[in-house]
Amino acid sequence: MQFPEYRARRLRVSETLRSLVRETQLDAKDFIYPLYVKHGSKLKEEISSMPGVYRFSIDMLEDEILEIKKLGIRSVILFGIPDSKDEMGTESYDAHGAVQEAVQEIHRVDPDMIVITDVCMCEYTDHGHCGKLDDKGYVINDATLEMLAKEAVSHAQAGADIVAPSDMMDGRVGAIRDALDEAGFENTPIMAYSAKFASAYYGPFREAAESSPKFGNRKSYQMDSANALEALREVELDIQESADFVMVKPALSYLDILWRVKERFEFPTVCYNVSGEYAMVKAAAQKGWIDEKAIVLETLLSMKRAGADLIITYHAKDTARWILEDLHKGITH
Ligand code: PBG
Ligand code: ZN
Repeated sequence: MQFPEYRARRLRVSETLRSLVRETQLDAKDFIYPLYVKHGSKLKEEISSMPGVYRFSIDMLEDEILEIKKLGIRSVILFGIPDSKDEMGTESYDAHGAVQEAVQEIHRVDPDMIVITDVCMCEYTDHGHCGKLDDKGYVINDATLEMLAKEAVSHAQAGADIVAPSDMMDGRVGAIRDALDEAGFENTPIMAYSAKFASAYYGPFREAAESSPKFGNRKSYQMDSANALEALREVELDIQESADFVMVKPALSYLDILWRVKERFEFPTVCYNVSGEYAMVKAAAQKGWIDEKAIVLETLLSMKRAGADLIITYHAKDTARWILEDLHKGITH
């Protein structure tokens, strides 16, 4: 070694120089912002475990969408809270369901906003599981595929730009693709929650969507957190079944999976920075224990660096605002 011929610190001496050699950069269009929608009027209900995140009635979406657009965010993902739940989750495919109406309202406000819909049964079933149950409480795979396909077609009919199945049944990407094609939606892409782990990090979401399972857990369909090779098999199957995007979820504890998926498949790759990840940051920030902005920017950057092309995140609006403000000061993230 010829020390000190090469000095790595030379490129770190000023913020401008650092910004010139930065390998990864965050941009508002990297983000997908989650929105919880429901029936009713004049409702904007904050979720207690997710400060700054709300459930909106359809009539309250306009201001929110205009704000999102102004910040440079180009896409949202919708989660519906139905008026009534039943064993088979029938509101999931109702043409006047909350998601279906929200898709139309968002496109009225901004025809260019990419509206993604989460396709799953757990928000709509009275038992809170992601599909049809047998008498022992086990989710029946193939019968559930029919329900999911029906829901996805209903979302496409309402104008969804992308459908995103999050149930983790086997064969659902293929089943949804067939149903969409048959209904004339061959150009509607599928964003598959391909490697979705059974995670404690979904806790606050289940409060927000009122979707906690009434008994048991989701471990017979969502993945075991110990498994990385299985995650690669899941992604491979979804690509074979013609998924257009693959997703890793949660994000922060699964950056190794995200990296391996991107390296192996070189496919449009999404990660979901989930509700529990958001809640932890918010709680610590409220206590003054961490610097929220710095922590969030570092966290989202790690996801992009690990291979995410797109990040679903509740931090999207705040982060887009910080990026814009700092750009005016010549600082990039
Ligand atoms: C529905 C679904 C869940 C999330 C997204 N879609 C919850 C779950 O599987 O229990 C979690 C999102 C989050 O925690 O932010 N299946
Ligand atoms: Zn579900």
